[in-house]
Amino acid sequence: MSYNILETRNLVPDVHLMKVEAPDIAKAAKAGQFVILRIDESGERIPLTIADFDVDEGSITVIYQVMGKTTRQLTTLKTGEILQDFVGPLGTPSDIRKIGTVLMVGGGVGVAPVFPQARAYREAGNHVISIIGARNEAMLILEDEMAEVSDELYVATDDGSKGHHGFVTDIVKDILDSDQQVDRIVIIGPPIMMKVGAGVTASYGVETLVSLNPIMIDGTGMCGGCRVSVGGETKFACVDGPEFNAAGVDFDLLMSRLSLYRPQEKQALENYNTKCGGDCRCH
Ligand SMILES: Cc1cc2nc3c(=O)[nH]c(=O)nc-3n(C[C@H](O)[C@H](O)[C@H](O)COP(=O)(O)OP(=O)(O)OC[C@H]3O[C@@H](n4cnc5c(N)ncnc54)[C@H](O)[C@@H]3O)c2cc1C
Ligand code: FES
Repeated sequence: MSYNILETRNLVPDVHLMKVEAPDIAKAAKAGQFVILRIDESGERIPLTIADFDVDEGSITVIYQVMGKTTRQLTTLKTGEILQDFVGPLGTPSDIRKIGTVLMVGGGVGVAPVFPQARAYREAGNHVISIIGARNEAMLILEDEMAEVSDELYVATDDGSKGHHGFVTDIVKDILDSDQQVDRIVIIGPPIMMKVGAGVTASYGVETLVSLNPIMIDGTGMCGGCRVSVGGETKFACVDGPEFNAAGVDFDLLMSRLSLYRPQEKQALENYNTKCGGDCRCH
């Protein structure tokens, strides 16, 4: 089976949107789930969160950051071309229900998985306060889309070029220190940001959820590649998650496992760039 690419778009430097025709996945998708795609028969399988789904159009949208060989190769695909595999929806959907006030926190490309959750929490009748951040204004994604699905939206940039000069976690702390009642916090972004965020919220006693991004291979709980430690227990992020209660997540283990294959990933990108000049499909 192959999957038609309906749209590709560069959002900000090194972050791209791809909309794929996948009606069965669109029908079943829920916020918090992901897909695993393969560009062609010899391609590696990479997991990407479902950033949006449209049942009427039968489409799934993913938003990805160029990290290495496969995400680089993805940018060469154009509208009308095909993906070999697009498997999903995978993972346990987020536990979305009426809770009260939910703080949605997204950093960098982490704003993409936050978007469908913020929308779903709002549709479930919650007061949604969103905080999105990036290194600078030019790297900020989905600001208008997040504004539409949030009751309040705050922006933070590391260099102060837009919104608060500093980290999203500074705003989280300000809100938790204010009179505002907060019933749940969802933080999605680079592991270090989730680790810092979890540290900030721990002393306030507000339930905090994070979405983990360990290396995944089969996405079905069979290979053990995505194992993470939560509350001292081993969990498989692909089937038990990817969302977990932040209290108890061993972020240091997550980060060290993510760097396990760095030399091979570097080599794969170098081979791709050298052999293909970075813009072909051979391997
Ligand atoms: C559930 C889940 C959802 C994700 N959603 C998104 C998303 O919406 N947008 C986005 O930009 N990224 C997302 N990622 C990360 C994305 O899968 C990696 O960036 C991608 O696999 C990198 O592949 P590469 O060949 O370009 O880079 P490589 O050079 O192979 O790797 C670069 C880095 O990407 C990570 N990575 C590589 N292979 C995998 C893999 N099979 N599984 C997980 N991480 C890997 C590692 O940290 C690695 O160091 C998600 C990961 C998971 C587990
Ligand atoms: S990716 Fe294989 S067990 Fe989760």
